[in-house]
Amino acid sequence: MALAGLQNNDLKLIIFGGKGGVGKTSCAIATALALSENFKTLLISTDPAHSVSDCLEQQIGFKVTKVAGQANLSAIEVVADEALALFIKEHQAQLRKLLDTSTNLDNEDIEEMLSLSIPGIDEVMSFKTIIDFIEEGEFEKYVVDTAPTGHALRLISSPRLLDEWIKVAARMRWKYRYMITSFSGSYQQDEVDAFLLSLKKTVKRIENILRDQARCEFIPVCIPEAMAIMETSRLLTELNSSDIIAKQIILNNVMVSDGCEFCRRRKEGQLPYLQEIGTTYHNFNTVKVPVFAEEIKGLVTLQKLKSHLFTG
Ligand SMILES: Nc1ncnc2c1ncn2[C@@H]1O[C@H](COP(=O)(O)OP(=O)(O)OP(=O)(O)O)[C@@H](O)[C@H]1O
Ligand SMILES: [Mg+2]
Repeated sequence: MALAGLQNNDLKLIIFGGKGGVGKTSCAIATALALSENFKTLLISTDPAHSVSDCLEQQIGFKVTKVAGQANLSAIEVVADEALALFIKEHQAQLRKLLDTSTNLDNEDIEEMLSLSIPGIDEVMSFKTIIDFIEEGEFEKYVVDTAPTGHALRLISSPRLLDEWIKVAARMRWKYRYMITSFSGSYQQDEVDAFLLSLKKTVKRIENILRDQARCEFIPVCIPEAMAIMETSRLLTELNSSDIIAKQIILNNVMVSDGCEFCRRRKEGQLPYLQEIGTTYHNFNTVKVPVFAEEIKGLVTLQKLKSHLFTG
């Protein structure tokens, strides 16, 4: 089987996730290479390990960079820490005023609060960067490589966490508004209200695209081993409860050769897991990728992986 439907014009955002080391980065890049043959494509890495740069053998940073030799492919590393630092820098005044007007904290406490992270905000901000790109519409396809499962799960649940935070902040503001109205008879919306509203809109924008089955698809990458299968199951449960569509699974590192004792035993060892995946995920398009003799690094091996993913 091969990956299907990714060329569909409506589909904009394709996110790869899975356990550590199963081949997410390799598959995300190979997919971006394939899509860039027909679409202007942006490959986005949200993994702080900079593995996209390593795998492409080209330095990519927090800036859209053309991938050498690929006319239609660009890449960017959107690291949560940097996206968050930018957010705090841009909105420090509003955050400070929110704390100042809605709490009994003194200046020292406020500084301390500002240095603490709002739950989910770093991941939300990296997602916001992605959504901003999609809405700007400069590219036709956006392929996202995530760090190991925990990270993908945090990414998915981050809008929910931030939404909870906004609710608390809005409640604090409501009390403040009530107090002002009691004293002065009226209340004018200020920049803090506008800030909370725009944060709320960001959460909605992220949720809307993630849940839009025509525009977004999540592709779990798995290998035929017990722990990877368990993580895939957890990931799919979370995706399901977040209404994010996943309908195909990449099954990487499948042993095909049985030319030597070692290969034969590895192949035999994988059999029960392949069967388990086949049974559990019979509704999914399962795309098997053999284990290569060489590591996947540089365009030659990436192109080889691309043919396995797209021609089966
Ligand atoms: N089919 C394959 N055959 C041989 N080597 C592979 C295959 N798929 C991936 N690899 C190798 O396995 C290693 C991990 O791959 P990759 O970096 O794509 O995984 P990852 O899931 O992104 O890892 P991480 O969780 O650390 O981000 C790399 O060295 C890569 O070259
Ligand atoms: Mg990776």
